[in-house]
Amino acid sequence: MAKKPAARIIGTGRAVPETVLTNADLERIVDTSDEWITTRTGIKERRIVQRGEKTSDYCIKAARLALESARVSPEELDFIVIATISGDMRFPATAVYVQGALGAVNATAWDISATCSGFMFGLYQGEALIALGRAKKGLVIGAELLTTITNWTDRGTCVLFGDGAGAVVLAEATDERGILATYIGTSGDQTHLLYCYGRGTAGSLNNGASTTDDVMFMNGSEVFRHAVRTMGKAAVETLARAKLTPDQVDWLIPHQANIRIIQATAERLNLPMERVFVNIDRYGNTSSASVPIAIDEARREGIVKDGQTVLSVVFGGGFTWGGAAIRF
Ligand code: ACO
Repeated sequence: MAKKPAARIIGTGRAVPETVLTNADLERIVDTSDEWITTRTGIKERRIVQRGEKTSDYCIKAARLALESARVSPEELDFIVIATISGDMRFPATAVYVQGALGAVNATAWDISATCSGFMFGLYQGEALIALGRAKKGLVIGAELLTTITNWTDRGTCVLFGDGAGAVVLAEATDERGILATYIGTSGDQTHLLYCYGRGTAGSLNNGASTTDDVMFMNGSEVFRHAVRTMGKAAVETLARAKLTPDQVDWLIPHQANIRIIQATAERLNLPMERVFVNIDRYGNTSSASVPIAIDEARREGIVKDGQTVLSVVFGGGFTWGGAAIRF
């Protein structure tokens, strides 16, 4: 029997750009094909922002929808955590712009950086704050505009990413529904496989780097190998912490990076693909936004029903990884 949860997801929301970039569109930008992208990644199209749009714009939209579905006012929030590696500015944190726009005057807001695993790191923090009695309600948002730091001449990465934001409202659990376990991890020995200098100290113009360092680098096949192994391990570890067996999981909601990684994770747990939520075909890899976007879709479309148990697992650059078992 799983332990009684401290915190619960009581509302969800998502916001994605209107502009759709299809695989056919990409065929006109780099030497690629719909067939290659579909079979190697599962992606058919992704949403991309227009110049001038900001990460916080999408956070605010997703947050408002999440608050509305939770019937929570911004004043009731104790924290706003935003997971992003593509925030509006170097500082202040994107989260404080969102706090200001929402009028969440009683909240404390901060960003966290954990690449594609970021939302899980936020959930881990939020759940811990509520479990410790230091907060009653909060927002956890995953948001990325990765197409703004994509190298559009590198066919190995530019076909993969999309933009968007997803948000959940956390509150104290009142019954057996809620977050049954959260788990996060990092390793600092593979940082050379996936990174972006950006305008951070190490990659600044003052430090000898060129402006091309503002875009992402990824050794896809090496990252793939690690992702398959680590997502499987994270799934097993999260289930152990929640004292659940795979047959007690109604839905797997994995980070949407590559359909082959998703299939391998499901296989590791012996879960049929009918119990795996997949939307990578429509959004591509939205990094830290992928899990909260998927959770919102799955809840709003009635796919994940009240009382059902979801296992979510993530993996990203760093490397970072994590998982959560959640009863809705
Ligand atoms: N179109 C056509 N051909 C391509 C493309 C493309 N878009 N991209 C690469 N190729 C070619 C390569 O040049 C290579 O050709 P070669 O054999 O002649 O050299 C061939 O296809 C195979 O390339 P691989 O990189 O080995 O292909 P792979 O099967 O590994 O798929 C992919 C590449 C999709 C990037 C995969 O490795 C992957 O999904 N990796 C993991 C991504 C991930 O999970 N990232 C973590 C999260 S992201 C974050 O944290 C920000």
